[in-house]
Amino acid sequence: MRSEYFPLLLLGLVPRAAATTLESRQAVSINVNLGQTYQTMDGFGTSEAFQRAVTIQRLSETEQRRALDLLFSTEKGAGLSILRNGIGSSVDMRDDWMMSIQPKNPGGPNAEPKYTWDGKDNGQLWVSTEAVHTYGVKTIYANAWSAPGYMKTNGNDANGGSLCGVSGATCSSGDWKQAFANYLVQYIKYYAAANVTITHLGFLNEPDYTTSYASMRSSGTQAADFIKVLRPTLDKANLTSLLINCCDTMSWSAMNGMLGQMRSVESSLGVATGHAYTSSPTSPLSTKLKTWMTEAADNNGAWTSAWYSNGGPGEGMTWANNIYSAITSGNVSAYLYWIGAQDRPSTTNSKMIRVVNKAVDPSKRLWAMANWSRFVRPGAVRVGASGSGVRTSAFKNVDGAVAVQVINSGSERAVTINVSGGSFVAANVTAWVTDNTRDCNVIPATVDAAGKVSGNVPSRSMVTFVLRQAAAAQG
Ligand SMILES: *[C@@H]1O[C@H](CO)[C@@H](O)[C@H](O)[C@H]1NC(C)=O
Ligand SMILES: *[C@@H]1O[C@H](CO)[C@@H](O)[C@H](O)[C@H]1NC(C)=O
Ligand SMILES: *[C@@H]1O[C@H](CO)[C@@H](O)[C@H](O)[C@H]1NC(C)=O
Ligand SMILES: *[C@@H]1O[C@H](CO)[C@@H](O)[C@H](O)[C@H]1NC(C)=O
Ligand SMILES: *[C@@H]1O[C@H](CO)[C@@H](O)[C@H](O)[C@H]1NC(C)=O
Ligand SMILES: *[C@@H]1O[C@H](CO)[C@@H](O)[C@H](O)[C@H]1NC(C)=O
Repeated sequence: MRSEYFPLLLLGLVPRAAATTLESRQAVSINVNLGQTYQTMDGFGTSEAFQRAVTIQRLSETEQRRALDLLFSTEKGAGLSILRNGIGSSVDMRDDWMMSIQPKNPGGPNAEPKYTWDGKDNGQLWVSTEAVHTYGVKTIYANAWSAPGYMKTNGNDANGGSLCGVSGATCSSGDWKQAFANYLVQYIKYYAAANVTITHLGFLNEPDYTTSYASMRSSGTQAADFIKVLRPTLDKANLTSLLINCCDTMSWSAMNGMLGQMRSVESSLGVATGHAYTSSPTSPLSTKLKTWMTEAADNNGAWTSAWYSNGGPGEGMTWANNIYSAITSGNVSAYLYWIGAQDRPSTTNSKMIRVVNKAVDPSKRLWAMANWSRFVRPGAVRVGASGSGVRTSAFKNVDGAVAVQVINSGSERAVTINVSGGSFVAANVTAWVTDNTRDCNVIPATVDAAGKVSGNVPSRSMVTFVLRQAAAAQG
């Protein structure tokens, strides 16, 4: 910056923008069109899998509550509305492994199962109970990273391998598809007995990637083979409204390849899911199903809690933009950051909240999620929004409020917002700004008698305008 402006100043030249007052600049007009509708949102979320839930449980009661408030409260935190749990496949809780509900082979795929339940599920039942009963979270996504080792070609729940019985995966022990489907149903029943309803079930995580922790490979064809067994098994167990998610690919675009091999079972699927690692959701998946981006994180960057410093991969504004692209270009109905709170490693941005010295410390990544999640509630429908020079999106919430996001990477802009395409006439507006110095402060915005909103969007900030009709017109 300095090298650009210093010579100009020496020459007595002043950059043009500095001489122009805000009032004299043309306002950006944002047109919100309620008649143009896109995807319906299911929400925003995170995970406390791999014993990260246990990390929170080990804190003092005060810090536990702070962590949970930061994750799930719509008043004190991000108001996240989706929790993604890991269904364990490991033989014990060594390292950060997730313990299986049937760690030992019961004696083959047709043997009487020997399930065990410790009532904890790697700390996740406690987090789920809090999420559902204290904070009103309605969407619980249970996701298996792998089947237990004895059900797989490699005899290990880690290091890849495939489920015995899917195409091209024959094992001397037999076909384990039905046994794995029964296993997943049993896991759901344990949660139901604890009064937590699992709404979405996934049986793969990053099937396009092999790792030294729980991992299981699958092609789309192999996933389809299993879905043909899983869906009827769920229906028979009276879990007809539980949705199957698939396939949580490491790369967003890799999910298109899998979907291409799954057309015959697409009607049995609930949600098409992908992660944002080796490719991110910059375009929609080729499916009519709802799509969720179920895992993204800056896994390598050194811990930062900045909103904006240089556009680095861990900064809050970067995540506000990532979420914006996934929703407006990638057509996602849900956006999940990898980990909510964790202690180790404490040095990277893989989580939104770090636990250090037995206390929780939120980053602006959490607040970037909050600035979306608090105003775009489950059931909100994305509607048309356009405005030049800024990134803008809009949603009609179930309670009737229209939420308009404006992300401004340039210098300060005045904006007007005009809502068309329906009978909605704004009578009331509130605007919240987040930038380097302000944490969602309310800033002035006005609405005229015709319902046109006027406000300001400061440099490098995200502003959310929430528009409401006159009380008489609501309902
Ligand atoms: C189960 O949860 C529901 C809704 O959250 C609650 O109303 C009910 O009292 C709970 N039942 C038990 C047995 O805890
Ligand atoms: C199936 O579930 C519904 C509601 O989820 C419940 O009303 C019904 O009793 C259940 N039936 C059986 C056979 O469990
Ligand atoms: C966006 O997702 C919805 C389902 O949520 C789907 O009906 C629609 O076709 C998708 N749009 C595009 C452009 O893929
Ligand atoms: C509001 O938007 C509609 C549709 O784009 C347009 O026809 C109308 O002229 C706009 N009104 C104002 C006051 O900008
Ligand atoms: C606008 O709505 C907010 C929240 O419902 C309320 O507190 C405020 O008084 C309203 N303002 C006007 C001018 O109606
Ligand atoms: C938006 O982000 C800021 C931090 O940059 C945070 O302080 C604020 O509470 C967030 N707003 C909401 C509504 O969560």
